[in-house]
Amino acid sequence: MNKKFYITTPIYYPSDKLHIGHAYCTVAADTMARYKRMQGYDVMFLTGTDEHGQKIELKAAEKGVTPKQYVDNIVAGIKDLWKLLNISNDRFIRTTDDYHEKAIQKIFRQLYDNGDIYKGHYKGWYCTPCESFWTETQLKDGKCPDCGRDVTLSEEEAYFFRLSKYADKLLKYYEDHPGFIEPQSRQNEMINNFIKPGLEDLCVSRTSFKWGVPVDFDDKHVIYVWVDALSNYITAMGYGSDDDSDFQKYWPADIHLVGKEIVRFHTIIWPAMLMSLNLPLPKKVFGHGWLVIGGGKMSKSKGNVVDPVLLCDRYGVDAIRYFLMREIPFGSDGNFTNESLISRINSDLANDLGNLVSRTVAMIIKYFGGTLSDVNIPDELDNELIELARQTKSSAESYLDNMQFSNALSEIWKLISRTNKYIDETMPWVLAKDESKKDRLNTVMYNLCEAIRIAAILITPFMPSTPAKIADQIGIDEKYMTWDSAGQWGIMPRNITVAKGDTLFPRIDPVKELAQLEAIVPTKEPADDKKSDETKADIAKGNEKASVPEGIASLITIDDFAKVELKAAKIISCEPVKRAKKLLCLQLDDGDKGRQVVSGIAKWYKPEDLINKTVIVVSNLKPAKLCGVESQGMILAADAGEDDVKVVFLDESVPAGSKIR
Ligand code: ME8
Ligand code: MG
Repeated sequence: MNKKFYITTPIYYPSDKLHIGHAYCTVAADTMARYKRMQGYDVMFLTGTDEHGQKIELKAAEKGVTPKQYVDNIVAGIKDLWKLLNISNDRFIRTTDDYHEKAIQKIFRQLYDNGDIYKGHYKGWYCTPCESFWTETQLKDGKCPDCGRDVTLSEEEAYFFRLSKYADKLLKYYEDHPGFIEPQSRQNEMINNFIKPGLEDLCVSRTSFKWGVPVDFDDKHVIYVWVDALSNYITAMGYGSDDDSDFQKYWPADIHLVGKEIVRFHTIIWPAMLMSLNLPLPKKVFGHGWLVIGGGKMSKSKGNVVDPVLLCDRYGVDAIRYFLMREIPFGSDGNFTNESLISRINSDLANDLGNLVSRTVAMIIKYFGGTLSDVNIPDELDNELIELARQTKSSAESYLDNMQFSNALSEIWKLISRTNKYIDETMPWVLAKDESKKDRLNTVMYNLCEAIRIAAILITPFMPSTPAKIADQIGIDEKYMTWDSAGQWGIMPRNITVAKGDTLFPRIDPVKELAQLEAIVPTKEPADDKKSDETKADIAKGNEKASVPEGIASLITIDDFAKVELKAAKIISCEPVKRAKKLLCLQLDDGDKGRQVVSGIAKWYKPEDLINKTVIVVSNLKPAKLCGVESQGMILAADAGEDDVKVVFLDESVPAGSKIR
């Protein structure tokens, strides 16, 4: 039997129309699901909607409809959006589904019977938009510490879940399961910001409103919406119903994909609930970053949302999916701008990929009337392309396996660029002039088609409808479009027949289009004083919360930057560190007492090249020992290429000790 792969998105609040930020998470999950299916996994891809809670009750009341009427309408729209975006979810759960409501009551009772839920009295602050409870001390300036909005004092009889009991178990679990929370930085955040300061028992029922699943043994209480929502991942598989075969088959989930602001719910509350239920924990919770616009999180309440439908209508679904997965390193926040969207479409899709296909087809039509022959005249010139094409699958896979979508695409685009370069190198138009080179030209064309075939397969998880269009134009039989065959060169028969097709990605007039788009949804960064307070609060908060994978930049405030002390320093002497081939030990005049810094630059610099040069030193870095030698700070250098490092040198006229800011 095939190995299973169970991936989930969060279930969305149907509070309003979804924006491209929501689409981002779902497209990522879909890419992963498609990838795993192509690899032969038995995939379960779940998404859905989170329909209970006070927020929905209030919204519905505002509109003068019942909560159910209110959500039905929106959920239909959400399903349409997923259809439009070509989302291949296997299941869609609504927390208002009958089977879910029954199962959640069972789960609540199980927690209660296990002694993990008790009745008490709740007094504290509630943030309705986040459906989160806060204590007085957790509030920031009297507002919700998560979203900065108003909170309301609520005081009611309530049931509590013994979350406090699970603090040590959670810490132990994290320790025993590296990779449970990703990116790693988010795990540190959970430990330091939430678990270490102390977990309080969690209020898991409300009596002040009705729109929720009632506690079956005490029905003036409705079950807290997050307990209701998180359980969807197991109830959707039949947990708590008569038929739990899918639960047996698919649980534990392989990946819960969630936005960074709800990592806390998924890595603290949810695992504690599962522990209490005596169920295995999900294998991984991956917290992705936000799409930001003009510096603040894209969100409905700010009115800075970009409508995915509008973008898909203008540029096509695959272009939008590509952009979302390519532009933002997964895990960190990414700024959405119309400019970057247009430029990606033009350069990566229209130019690199689209042109490659249309040029190849056009040449085969022009030189061979559309059909190649079986002859093969290889040349050394082909080797680099063939080698790269052979290994692109495995390099893309190694990134995809770690959900580094952008890097995976960048590997695929290396092949596409290399293939374009191959056209320049082989100069088919020159070969075509010489009848004796016709067979060689045939081989060049075949090689182009093979490289295109491989690239087309590898983009399938990201851009599900483009590969078939490419296959039609190049004349590739479906059986050569399987994931496995992307690792094999030369498997297509040589006598290919091509067919001219529609332009895959029409080039956009950037100036005209940008003006039009900006008029609909402005994405240009507003001047600082034009930013709303909410946006400013977001940016400020971003630093604290937006932990991102190594090597990926995120927004920091000027205050964060000010923590780093940078100084000019002159290199007085320099020598290699014994038994550490990579290291040089530098003595620096830093305008103060002087300092010793060890730097891993021996591969690129000889000691004599460095003497008397002025560099930038991070002077308030904690001293560390490198291969037994103390280093008091570090010097700045640039990653200048794949395997090249260049130290940042300052002009000689900058005195040692000058502050750099
Ligand atoms: O949190 N960029 O639902 P939700 C990237 N119902 N992702 C974004 C985003 C943006 N600008 N805006 C929203 C909930 N998202 C709960 C989940 S799960 C048991 C319950 C993402 O509709 C957000 O990070 O507020 C989250 O992962 C998802 O959309 C759903 O958000
Ligand atoms: Mg939210």
